[in-house]
Amino acid sequence: MLPQIKTLDEYRQQYQASVDDPQQFWANIGAHFNWQRKWDKVLDWNFQDPSIKWYDGAQLNITENCLDRHLPARADQVAIIWEPNDPKEAARHITYGELHASVQRFANVLLNNGVKKGDRVCIYLPMIPEAAVAMLACARIGAVHSVVFAGFSAQSISDRVNDSGCRMIITADGFYRGEKKFELKGIVAAALQSTPTIEKCIVFNHRNLPVKMEAGRDLWWHEEWQKADAENKAATVEAEDPLFILYTSGSTGKPKGVLHTTAGYMVFAAYTFKNVFQYQEGEVFCCTADIGWVTGHSYIVYGPLLNGATTIMFEGVPTYPDHGRFWELIDKHKVNIFYTAPTAIRSLQAFGEDIFADKDLSSLRVLGSVGEPINEEAWHWYHDNVGKGKCPIVDTWWQTETGGVMISPLAGITPLKPAFATLPLPGVELLLVDEKGNEIKGNGVEGNLCIRHPWPGMARSVYGDHPRFKQTYFSTYPGLYFTGDGCRRDEDGYYRITGRVDDVINVSGHRIGTGELEDAISMHGEVIESAVVAYPHDVKGQAIYAYVICDKHIENKDVLYKDIRDHVTQVIGAFARPDKIQIVPGLPRTRSGKIMRRILRKIAEGDTGNLGDTSTLIDPSVVDTIKAEAIH
Ligand code: PRX
Repeated sequence: MLPQIKTLDEYRQQYQASVDDPQQFWANIGAHFNWQRKWDKVLDWNFQDPSIKWYDGAQLNITENCLDRHLPARADQVAIIWEPNDPKEAARHITYGELHASVQRFANVLLNNGVKKGDRVCIYLPMIPEAAVAMLACARIGAVHSVVFAGFSAQSISDRVNDSGCRMIITADGFYRGEKKFELKGIVAAALQSTPTIEKCIVFNHRNLPVKMEAGRDLWWHEEWQKADAENKAATVEAEDPLFILYTSGSTGKPKGVLHTTAGYMVFAAYTFKNVFQYQEGEVFCCTADIGWVTGHSYIVYGPLLNGATTIMFEGVPTYPDHGRFWELIDKHKVNIFYTAPTAIRSLQAFGEDIFADKDLSSLRVLGSVGEPINEEAWHWYHDNVGKGKCPIVDTWWQTETGGVMISPLAGITPLKPAFATLPLPGVELLLVDEKGNEIKGNGVEGNLCIRHPWPGMARSVYGDHPRFKQTYFSTYPGLYFTGDGCRRDEDGYYRITGRVDDVINVSGHRIGTGELEDAISMHGEVIESAVVAYPHDVKGQAIYAYVICDKHIENKDVLYKDIRDHVTQVIGAFARPDKIQIVPGLPRTRSGKIMRRILRKIAEGDTGNLGDTSTLIDPSVVDTIKAEAIH
């Protein structure tokens, strides 16, 4: 059994131990897993190259830790509860024994179709248990999964598939989210027109939607299933062999394929799950994230399964068939730990407290929040109405790159402060720096959040582009990992994330790179150039304001706006559609050609009183025009 911190004093001791002797600390945690071969060295690292190796020399298979080792005690315990989009349809309950069998068989499907250890496999599936089976089957044979969120466009799929050279893609006919139908196979077919490395496309028939299968390339999941053997011996994987790639956006360029390796990720996902949520044997855990994001990887699949927990996969949306769906789900499955995003909380808050009237939420013990800063009002609403004042809220700060939770209360142990992620987990050495990289010491201060020592769950590289990994995370402040977030440390030493300090926008917890979005908008035939900034939004946290320069006079602006939005849906996905679009004659540029985003941000925020110094602009008058026509 993995160690679980029980008191605040113990947290402080463990934290100190993890800083004093990280190798010993993580060796002790690592001892609670199944290894095919023990490691030679717990940690070998430098942040210059950067090169990070945890448990080097060890051999293992993460699926033996998620599945096989639980079988003696919990073959009949439910591993995954699947709650479908339509509550009238029956939920599915999959035991550890059944999941183990499915993963073995699907691992053989992969092998039968030419996937080998180290090959990349793209997974583009709805929130169905088969998504977890596909991920684990990849891990079983040592293949690397690259899950692409099922809201991404064909173009985004092919970009990702090509970047990592995926050999296979796994998808489904389609699915419904609320009343909306998503025809995944059609989107994949469009994507596969420009993906030379894809040899096979496996299609799971989820909703009996009509699909066109291409002979020689497309195969039905159920037919391949029939052909495959039942048993599969887990492959031997090196500690630092890649486990998965997950694409994420930064301020510039195309999305990066964040690369996670096996052993360190496993240890960190399991340890953080058990300690942050204070998971107790037999509890039902529900994380409402999508499997296409890191939260789904670490806290729907790996973290819970490594701990032998029961994890819920919810296919639908919080507002279908009505706004009480989350609460109905908690009631129906007697959820003990509920983990969601501030956006969801804020959007449900608007519907008042009546939606709880006939729901029994007494099973709840812990609530969690992730993905964006939670404002105090939403925090109190969540605490008082959902948690009935008795459930601690763990506001968990972390990133795709960190693999697992980095700053968070330990449920019921760390005294809470609304809107604060509170304290770092053991093994997480934070510091705040100023613009020049000088450490800001003491309490009651604010700065850029950095990390000075590796933790096991950290990303190891950007797939196929290690220099970009170094450039993005380790070069702003040499010797430190830079998170891209601003952060306050208050008088009590508690951390509060203030948001991104780079050009990354966080819309409803979705991370969107301004550069990537500008590229997409500028690809529209009538747009010459664009600049995108965020402005605060009551529900989504941030919303997108796009300034565009067009190549001719636009008669019907509304048509163009719709067109640009549809274009973004096509290039990236619907979640990246700009909320406001303004046609401008030019952008405020400095003499060196840099766009002054600060000014654009202020205008988008409606704060046009004092725009600060505009004297360095080539043409300050452009600001007046933009201001006069701003959309509020
Ligand atoms: O800005 C921070 C914000 O989300 C970013 C990471 O996004 P992503 O890689 O998509 O991972 C999201 C889920 C782990 C961070 O740089 N963020 C995440 N959690 C919080 C947060 N901001 C404030 N509070 C949080 N709890």
